[in-house]
Amino acid sequence: MEHSQSYKSFMKSSYNSIKHSTYFDSYDHFFKDFRNKEITFVEIGVLAGGSLFMWRDYFGPKARIIGIDFNPNAKKWEKHGFEIFIGSQSDENFWNEFKTKVGNIDILLDDGGHTYEQQIITTECLLDAINDGGLLVIEDTHSSYMKNYGKRKYSFVEYTKKKVDAINMRFKDISGLEPERRVWSIEFVESMVAFKINKKASYMKSELISNDGENDHAEDYVYRNADISAKMKSFFNKMNISTDNRLVKRIIRKCEKISTKRKFSAKKYFD
Ligand SMILES: C[S@@+](CC[C@H](N)C(=O)[O-])C[C@H]1O[C@@H](n2cnc3c(N)ncnc32)[C@H](O)[C@@H]1O
Repeated sequence: MEHSQSYKSFMKSSYNSIKHSTYFDSYDHFFKDFRNKEITFVEIGVLAGGSLFMWRDYFGPKARIIGIDFNPNAKKWEKHGFEIFIGSQSDENFWNEFKTKVGNIDILLDDGGHTYEQQIITTECLLDAINDGGLLVIEDTHSSYMKNYGKRKYSFVEYTKKKVDAINMRFKDISGLEPERRVWSIEFVESMVAFKINKKASYMKSELISNDGENDHAEDYVYRNADISAKMKSFFNKMNISTDNRLVKRIIRKCEKISTKRKFSAKKYFD
């Protein structure tokens, strides 16, 4: 933590900010490529102003730093060169106005109220306003496992699982779910979820491509239960029956299928 640039910027800020010690390495991990560039960075949650100064130091003078808070007193930070918007992150109309005024952004960091409703509405309203290559990072996602932030069934982490399904629907229409065409990838670290935006890449079509290299027609063991195949092959070998025989191959394949259905040795990892 001490070596991270964001920690150094945090310690330099003259105004108060309180952050968890594990966050600085994650900030550096997600944001390092955006430093000293002409980016638009938005943080929800201004409180005592400390993090605004931290981000200005971290990203450098070319960055446009915008703060959002429900508390109208946050406007006072405008005289320090920050852009401040007052409104609630769970208000879809607030976001529509915000997007009209600000335009596209590069990074959104949510350190606001941390309820599931606030986190989900913020994500849904802002994903389309982030430039390709940009990030939407929701902080304090441990609230998904805590009381008083909303119904657990609709927690932010539960919502992200649906996004994982929707990303996979880009492969092809497997289940009728709408494919996700803004988020390229999702990264989970302790207490944070980062959505990497790339609309262009999310429209890429998945097709099978061969490199036309030499093909030795290796037997494809896909879908097979390796343990059962080995046991059956050794059984047939002992009986001096060739496993190249078509009927024997069919028997082995049938047994593999039956045993795969009956025994799921990875179940313990779900418990
Ligand atoms: C954890 S503090 C932010 C701390 C600040 N980012 C820092 O690091 O110093 C949370 C802030 O979110 C604001 N907030 C709470 N609910 C909000 C909402 N619905 N919309 C916008 N801001 C909200 C609070 O007023 C408070 O200033």
